[in-house]
Amino acid sequence: MGRLQKILIPSLGLVLAFWFYSARDTFKPEMLRGKRVIVTGASTGIGEQMAYHLARMGSHILVTARTEAKLQNVVRRCLELGAASARFVSGTMEDTAFAQRVVREAQTSLGGLDMLILNHVGASYFGFFDGDVEHVRKLLEINFLSYVAMTTSALPMLKESEGSIVVVSSMAGKVGFPFTVPYSATKFALDGFFSSLRQEFAIQSINVSITLCILGFIDTESAVRAVSHVIPDTPAPKEECALEIIRAGALRHRQLHYPARAVGTMLLIHSIAPELFESIVRGSYRLENVRRT
Ligand SMILES: NC(=O)c1ccc[n+]([C@@H]2O[C@H](COP(=O)([O-])OP(=O)(O)OC[C@H]3O[C@@H](n4cnc5c(N)ncnc54)[C@H](OP(=O)(O)O)[C@@H]3O)[C@@H](O)[C@H]2O)c1
Ligand SMILES: *[C@@H]1O[C@H](CO)[C@@H](O)[C@H](O)[C@H]1NC(C)=O
Repeated sequence: MGRLQKILIPSLGLVLAFWFYSARDTFKPEMLRGKRVIVTGASTGIGEQMAYHLARMGSHILVTARTEAKLQNVVRRCLELGAASARFVSGTMEDTAFAQRVVREAQTSLGGLDMLILNHVGASYFGFFDGDVEHVRKLLEINFLSYVAMTTSALPMLKESEGSIVVVSSMAGKVGFPFTVPYSATKFALDGFFSSLRQEFAIQSINVSITLCILGFIDTESAVRAVSHVIPDTPAPKEECALEIIRAGALRHRQLHYPARAVGTMLLIHSIAPELFESIVRGSYRLENVRRT
């Protein structure tokens, strides 16, 4: 199996890389100039980096998360970097009323919305499923239901602007990985909701794009803290990841794979030989370091 892995992975990677680079249309940062964008989960991590890229591109930015002090700093930095405007709303996405309030804020202070970037995630654990059903419910509210609520509230504005919805998901939202059972469930739910909604938009000629972002391991503080003792891979940079997400949204792509080659290759192997894929995954973890419950 080791040899198969050595031959299969690089050759699949080459094919995918060629397809990926030849099929891409061109992105220009000016595409985001003057655009009104909401970024959720923007107090830290990939969301924070997306806010800074959008600022450099001259967008009107509305960021949200729970921690007001961090959001104040993000807004200040966005203004320094050249944002057309920057503001924040703080609160928790456990509450759908709050999710709707963030969208209303875009209506009142920006007069509309061009791009809705849904990126926040609630804290979970990395380890064997502990049977805590309430945790699954709470995580579904934060990671899934609030995405549905924001999308629903923002749809009239997005239809008017022929705008875009960008949903940040994960490899764990496409295939089963161990140790992220509740998280994975919430990310799979996003795929179901947004892929189905995209079909209805096409039938109804609603020109609002939906971009689902399938991310691998990214070097944000929270991810590195949670998994680096178990996963030997080097994480990809959050700055580049953030830029790729914005680019895919602006180009109205249906799906983003980042890092492209690693994620594309894994999804391809999984679709051809799921059991082989699953055993490669299990074999790549440092199981002795996993928390047991
Ligand atoms: N990093 C990775 O390796 C990786 C891999 C695959 C997918 N992803 C996806 O990429 C996205 C960003 O990940 P990240 O690593 O940048 O995450 P992160 O650094 O942990 O940031 C999460 C953000 O969500 C906010 N948040 C947490 N709980 C919240 C709540 N209850 N209500 C509102 N906001 C809340 C946090 O701010 P407050 O604490 O201030 O609320 C923070 O701004 C997520 O969708 C994640 O699933 C990441
Ligand atoms: C959909 O909206 C985009 C962005 O405004 C535009 O470029 C594209 O031509 C529109 N497509 C249709 C079919 O109207």
